[in-house]
Parts: sequence; structure tokens; C-alpha cells
Amino acid sequence: MPYLSSSMDVTQLPSWQALVAHRERLAGFSMRQAFAADAQRFETFSLSGCGLFLDYSKNLINTETRELLVNLAREVGLERGIRALFDGELLNNTEQRPALHTALRRPLGDKVQVDGVDIIPEVQRVLQQMTELVGRIHDGLWRGYTEKPITDVVNIGIGGSFLGPQLVSEALLPFAQRGVRCHYLANIDGSEFHELSAKLRAETTLFIVSSKSFGTLETLKNAQAARGWYLAQGGSEAELYRHFIAVSSNREAAVGFGIREENIFPMWDWVGGRYSLWSAIGLPIALSIGMSNFKELLSGAYRMDEHFQTAPFEENMPVLLALLGVWYGNFWNAQSHAILPYDHYLRNITKHLQQLDMESNGKSVRGDGQPISTATGPVIWGGVGCNGQHAYHQLLHQGTQLIPADFIVPVSSYNPVADHHQWLYANCLSQSQALMLGKSRKEAEDELRAKGLSEEDVQRLAPHKVIPGNRPSNTLVMERVSPRRLGALIAMYEHKVFVQSVIWGNNAFDQWGVELGKDLGKGVYSRMVGSDEAPADDGSTQGLINFFRGRHRG
Ligand code: F6P
Repeated sequence: MPYLSSSMDVTQLPSWQALVAHRERLAGFSMRQAFAADAQRFETFSLSGCGLFLDYSKNLINTETRELLVNLAREVGLERGIRALFDGELLNNTEQRPALHTALRRPLGDKVQVDGVDIIPEVQRVLQQMTELVGRIHDGLWRGYTEKPITDVVNIGIGGSFLGPQLVSEALLPFAQRGVRCHYLANIDGSEFHELSAKLRAETTLFIVSSKSFGTLETLKNAQAARGWYLAQGGSEAELYRHFIAVSSNREAAVGFGIREENIFPMWDWVGGRYSLWSAIGLPIALSIGMSNFKELLSGAYRMDEHFQTAPFEENMPVLLALLGVWYGNFWNAQSHAILPYDHYLRNITKHLQQLDMESNGKSVRGDGQPISTATGPVIWGGVGCNGQHAYHQLLHQGTQLIPADFIVPVSSYNPVADHHQWLYANCLSQSQALMLGKSRKEAEDELRAKGLSEEDVQRLAPHKVIPGNRPSNTLVMERVSPRRLGALIAMYEHKVFVQSVIWGNNAFDQWGVELGKDLGKGVYSRMVGSDEAPADDGSTQGLINFFRGRHRG
């Protein structure tokens, strides 16, 4: 077993028990008071590195909490776990695979062995293959069946073959090279295909069928639809190679679809889908921002990898964020975690982190198959600010649940419009401030009295105006979003998720839970279309199948 907790009950460890006792002592902890009592609190609980600044002072912690959490990290064997991750041990023990996404951002000359073979030369070879493709498309040398250059690239993929690339290509739009537009086709919903294809011309469109397994229903159906559309628009089977390329570890299936061997970019078993944007799955990113910016993205992630491996736990961004998550999820009963980017370009980061975190740590057994006796991954949700302030922040401020939040904000804007950016930044800060300070009963009453309300109205309205406060958040600040900073930011969250899996002892790199729905889907489909007349296993599903069949008769 790579680290201690994958085969033992973490809640029985002395460091865990010490945290239970500490939590009791902190029952009445007030962040307001902690700030008032300590002028250095911001300095004590903030740090910078890899182009990011992390303020975690607005948390329900003191220095002892940090120490106890770090003790927990040590006791579960985190140091050993980190080494195991980077060395390519078989951490994904249900599939007997390493999780070596970090190898994708290692520089030439480093060595990482899988089954006795150094994989870095192969990683570099694929980067070269990507460089050639991107160059040919950007230079107008890759041409469609009418000899016109490619103007539009459609990434057909879902999950990790979609969310990471979409996040990054959109977050780095200010770095986009002119000439090629990137689009994403993910869902099996025909409306998505219809709306996208209406904007495109087959003769100038390149489809990237992006699927590690080349067996994902949504992706294969969309690839078939795209192929049918391309043929209907005037393309031919003989020219198909000009319009369809693939990224996959299943070469055979990609060839079977009609993609030429030389147009298949490899993926490897040792990269999980939600960790794959750094591989050729990132082709749409590279096509959008160019290869040198793509390499900058990799080097930002590499810097974070270095930080993660070398910084003491007390000064280690992913470790601290992970420990704070454990603190709230396991000791304060928080069940969800909000990701709130205050930046239009980062608007999709919540969706990417949702898959990264929830597919990795949405588990309930340890590495050895025994149940985990405490809560694991939280629900990740949120979205771009200020929009969220006018939608769901109400619940953050006055709801009954404790929901820790990460605010992410750049200090400068690529697109200054009057004083909009100052207001955006101010709103970000004032939200975390409001969450922390809240409004006491006395403050609410004083405010109402100052407005001249009768005492009866003051008493009637005051309870509704009270805001409990003391609600925790982290704030991540950076200069403008650049490839390097974004690489570091995403890698930081990857490592945060990993650290939590080490603490809980679960395998962060498999996802068996999503398989059942896929399997059952086949049975439901065959009953809907009448190829299987046997009743479904439950009355509700059968009733809903009947409803569908009733509407589609004849
Ligand atoms: O169904 C879940 C999942 O397997 C994800 O883990 C993955 O990112 C996604 O589907 C897409 O998989 P693929 O790249 O093999 O099409």
C-alpha cells in the first residue's frame, strides 16, 4: 500500500483525534475577533508562489489548527504518497495503473519509468507531433477537400476530453492566435450538434475526435453525426482524412472509424481523463493559443509540481487547501465547496474542478476496499462573480449550511472598461469580507433605527437582517491570467484533490460509479426502441419508457 490511510481508518489516528478535541475547543471561534486580536493574521495565513497569492486568513483556524492539520498530513504518510505519485507507483490500484499526468509537464532530460521504459521521450515526441499539426493549420497548409485552409476546429469529446481543454482555451482567449476558431461538441443532445453545425462549413472544418477510450457513447455518436454532416455537405470518404483526426489510446478503434494512423495522437493508460489537458487532449488549446503558449501552460504546472514536492506542508498551497477542505468537511460538517472565479475568462473553472474533484474523490471505500468511516469529497459548485452574488450567494450568507468558498481573482484586466475592473475586484473582496464579518443583531437594529423606523418595526425586521458571518473562504489572487499562472492554478487543484485522497485513503484515479448508468442506459434504450420487450427492473423506469413509446408510436 502506498500510504498509510489506504488500508487503515484515518479517524483512529492520534492526529485525527487531536483535531476532534481541537474542534471542540474552537466551537466559539470568531474570525472577527481573531483579526481584531492579531494584526499579523493576514501575514500569518497567506503565501505566494508560482505566480499565485493565496490568502487563507479568513478561515476558522489558528496556528494550532494548522499545526494539527499538518500533523495529520504527516501521519497519513503524505510525503510518501507524493513521492509515489511522481514516481509512477500504481496508485490507481483497481486498474493497476500509475497516475502520471505530472510526467506530461516534465522537461526533456527528466526520466519517468513505466514498466521499465522511460516515457519522457514519448511525451516529447507527441508534443512535436502537436507542434507540426498546429504549425500546418496556423500556416494554412492543412487544407480541406476544396483546398481551402482550415478555419474552424471542433473538439468532439466529453468529461476530461472536454472540460479541461474548454476551460483553458477560453481562459486564454487573450492569447488566441488569429485564424482558427475552436468549438466544443460534448453532449449527445442533437440540439447541440444542430446549433454548432449551422455555424460551420464542412470544407473548412477539422474535427478532433477526442476520447481516451474511443468508446464513449456521446463522443462516438457525435463523431458519426459529424461524419454524416461532412459527407452531406459535399465531402467524400476519400478526403475524410483531411477533416477528422483523433486523440486516443485506442488506436484500433480510431482506425476503425476511418482515421489515418498518422492522424491519431496517442494517449496513455497512465493519464486519467480529468488530468489529461496537458496531453494531446489539449490539442484544441494548442490550436487556439499556439504551441509556445501551450508549453508555457505546461511549465506553469511544472512549477506547481516542484512547489508541491518541495515546500514544507505549512507553506504548501495544495496541501494547505486540501487540509482546510478536510477541516471543514470532516470536522465542521461542510458538505459542499464553492468555486467563485471573479474573471470572465475563468468562468468555466468551476465545471472543470467539479469533474476533477467529484470524479476523483466521490468515493466511499479505501484503497483496500473497506468503507471510509468519514465524509469524503464535497459537492463542488459555484460560478462566475459578480453573477453569483445576484443568484446563490444569499444562501452562502444566510443559509443554514456552512459552505467554504474559494474566490479567484486577477488584479488586472485584459479589457479595462472605465472602472469596471476595480468594481469587480472590490466585489470579490467584499463578498469574502461579508461572509466573514456578517451582521450582528445589534448592528442590524442600529441600522434600522438610523433609518428612523419605529421600535416595533426594528424588532420585526432585525432577525431577517442578521447575517451570521464567520463563514470561511480562501482568496487566490494573481496578475492577469497567463498560460503559466493558469497552469499552476489547475495543477494546484489537481494536487489538492490528491492530498485529500491520501488522507481519506481512497483511490482518486478510478471512476467506477459512472459505469452503472452507462450499462443501464443500454437496457433502457433497447426497451424504448422495442428491441427488448422485457419489462424494466422497476416500475418507474418502465412507466417512463411507456410514456416515451406512447409519444413515438407509428
Ligand atoms: O464517464 C466518465 C469518463 O470516463 C471520464 O472519466 C472521462 O473523462 C470521460 O468519461 C470521457 O472519456 P473518454 O476520453 O474515454 O471518451
